[in-house]
Amino acid sequence: MIPVILSGGSGTRLWPLSRGQYPKQFLPLVSKHTMVQDTLRRLDGLAGLQAPIAVCNEDHRFIMAEQLRQIDAHPAAIILEPIGKNTAPAVAMAALTAISENDVLLVLPADHVIADTDAFHKAIVQAKHIAERGFLVTFGIVPTEPQTGYGYIKSGALLDNSALKVAAFVEKPDKETAIRYVQSGDYFWNSGMFAFTAGTFLRELEKFNPKMLAACKQALAGAKTDLDFVRLDKDLFSACPADSIDYAVMEKTDKAVVIPLDAGWNDVGSWSALWDVTGKDDAGNAICGDVFTVDSSNSFIYSENKLVAVIGVHDLVVVETSDAVMVASKDRVQEVKQIVDQLKKLG
Ligand code: GDD
Ligand code: MG
Repeated sequence: MIPVILSGGSGTRLWPLSRGQYPKQFLPLVSKHTMVQDTLRRLDGLAGLQAPIAVCNEDHRFIMAEQLRQIDAHPAAIILEPIGKNTAPAVAMAALTAISENDVLLVLPADHVIADTDAFHKAIVQAKHIAERGFLVTFGIVPTEPQTGYGYIKSGALLDNSALKVAAFVEKPDKETAIRYVQSGDYFWNSGMFAFTAGTFLRELEKFNPKMLAACKQALAGAKTDLDFVRLDKDLFSACPADSIDYAVMEKTDKAVVIPLDAGWNDVGSWSALWDVTGKDDAGNAICGDVFTVDSSNSFIYSENKLVAVIGVHDLVVVETSDAVMVASKDRVQEVKQIVDQLKKLG
């Protein structure tokens, strides 16, 4: 089984900590290791693992190589994308790089937290066997709220053990639909992790998006290899259609299977999600750095350089870095994206 680390995201929702040049997956946000490192370290102890393949933006090649070296991980390849084309081409590149089409790829976003490693390992072992039978395996999380940033999986007939056939996969539904799904009790959240053989994935991609597959093959054929780095050709890769694996393949395939996963999964997609997974004081404040609180609760206060003091604040996020300070209501942290968009317009 080949771990495939997807690490091309920009993590804008954790601005101002996560930046284009140094996105969240390369930061030690929830442990002393960075999120990329934890993604691989969390597999320690699993039998039958092959060398991992990482797929990231070319700008991050040295950060990635160094962070893998620090944990003594020896990648089979670090595939470098000159531009982001979303996750379907990234996974296709890994599948095309696998040695055999029977290799099982364990696709892992580089920015998740999973508290219960044992439960995760059990699900992976089960996923591997099902992937070897020609299915595309997803890991389903029981939803706790009608989040619109996730894919929703409607489970169908029992396949074996706890694994279920997927009756429908709906990526990022609108709020009303998400509320209906959560109330029905028939849906899981898609965790964004997958297991399938390289051959199964490539055949499904060929079926649903032959142009993408052809463009990926060309960009890989034109790639330059240097040490572990596989640098995709910019012009050829630019011609590749952009799409996520969820829209390009998972919504369309009839070979999807879901394994329910109850392992303390969190995709750390926002400041409130980071608050969820960070240790807190008695008043529910998550505190990083040089921080003083008085009569404050349920807040996230992060200081990189300066002493930060808060008095009488509740459900607030305060982040101080060397060049920016952000203060936001904890229930509106998704809107950080609007700030980042405004900053991008300014150049
Ligand atoms: N190499 C590469 N290239 N990686 C990428 C790219 C890219 O162009 N775009 C995103 N990634 C990486 C991100 O760094 C992240 O680790 C992972 O792929 C998923 O991308 P996101 O952008 O975070 O996806 P999402 O959160 O909108 O949605 C996915 O994850 C949800 C769970 O967190 C989907 O799979 C949803 O269905 C799912 O619920
Ligand atoms: Mg995400």
